[in-house]
Amino acid sequence: MNSGIRTIGVLTSGGDCAGLNAVIRAVTYSAIQTYGWKVYGIMDGSMGLIQRPLQFRELTMGTFGGNYLREGGTFLGTTNKGDPFNFPMPDGTTKDRSEEFAEGCRMLGLDALVVIGGDGSMRILSRLCERAGIGMVGVPKTIDNDVHGTDYAVGFATSINVVTEALDRLQPTAASHHRVMILEVMGRDAGHIAINSGIAGGADVILVPEVPYSLEGVARKIRTVLAQGRSHALVVVAEGVKTESGEPFLISYSGGQQRYGGIGNYLTEKIAQMTGAETRVTILGHVQRGGIPSTRDRLLASAFGVKAVDLVAQKQFGTMVGWQGRSVVAVPLEKVCIGPRSLDPCGTMVGTARGLGIYVGEEICPVEDPAATI
Ligand code: F6P
Repeated sequence: MNSGIRTIGVLTSGGDCAGLNAVIRAVTYSAIQTYGWKVYGIMDGSMGLIQRPLQFRELTMGTFGGNYLREGGTFLGTTNKGDPFNFPMPDGTTKDRSEEFAEGCRMLGLDALVVIGGDGSMRILSRLCERAGIGMVGVPKTIDNDVHGTDYAVGFATSINVVTEALDRLQPTAASHHRVMILEVMGRDAGHIAINSGIAGGADVILVPEVPYSLEGVARKIRTVLAQGRSHALVVVAEGVKTESGEPFLISYSGGQQRYGGIGNYLTEKIAQMTGAETRVTILGHVQRGGIPSTRDRLLASAFGVKAVDLVAQKQFGTMVGWQGRSVVAVPLEKVCIGPRSLDPCGTMVGTARGLGIYVGEEICPVEDPAATI
């Protein structure tokens, strides 16, 4: 097929996760071997095309040397700050740097760009590509798994393995000391990491931002577990969960960025007070983003990378590859860039947790009348 495409760029944008290098590899392998294109890897997200000299490297079959498939992070670098349309300058002002980006695309002779990012990155990069007059195809990645249009984003599977392993390590020490262990996990405003790893890791309580909870509900569950003869309990809390009265826990970093963090400390104090149990907290943090990509993430990354290149060849721009059911599909960006995809509070995962007797917060879903379905 002669698509007129000769040169494409690929970049990673937003927070890193495991499996990004596997996507870059799949994009490069497919673009070169299937279509005979030239591939440039853009460094540090959009910044590589904004800075002068341009920050990029040509990606060839030799670039990968057998390693990158197995490595976490992104060898192209990434950034999760600085929208080029409102770029923060050192003097405190903001500047529109979109024309520098467009010029960078022209200097490299890019016909299209594959953007590996979350929904926020894809929204910004699609506007930038429009400005540059080139096509864009997105590949979803984030440990939070909160991108619309795909069942799974690259990085999620590895992160929930990390969290499950953390619970496997916390359980024996909790049992040995007869303690309640609280594990605070990432996920921003979504509870996908907490619910999936909490179920897999045998938690007694899982708190997610999408389901309201009461401290009395948490304490009651822990008292019940202890009364049933178990000496310890495990609690997983998503970082985006608020206090019982609705206050978020935020950490302010220099440069003005705010991130969630600290709800685990609050719960530790409250649970200790209310149950009398010795309680400890672990805040897992960026450990959840690192590590060797799991088999599932490598497979997803490979399928996504190949499909993204096919979409470029077919000029199906303004789309993102997504995993739906059993296959990879093209999803229009308008259906993706509509904010984060929350955990369904009445969906299968929350229902499964409740069925296991896990306290997931208060019941807010209509209870089905079994007689009504006959
Ligand atoms: O979106 C991914 C994520 O890891 C969130 O789960 C977390 O809240 C945030 O990024 C942390 O961002 P940073 O790396 O800027 O601290």
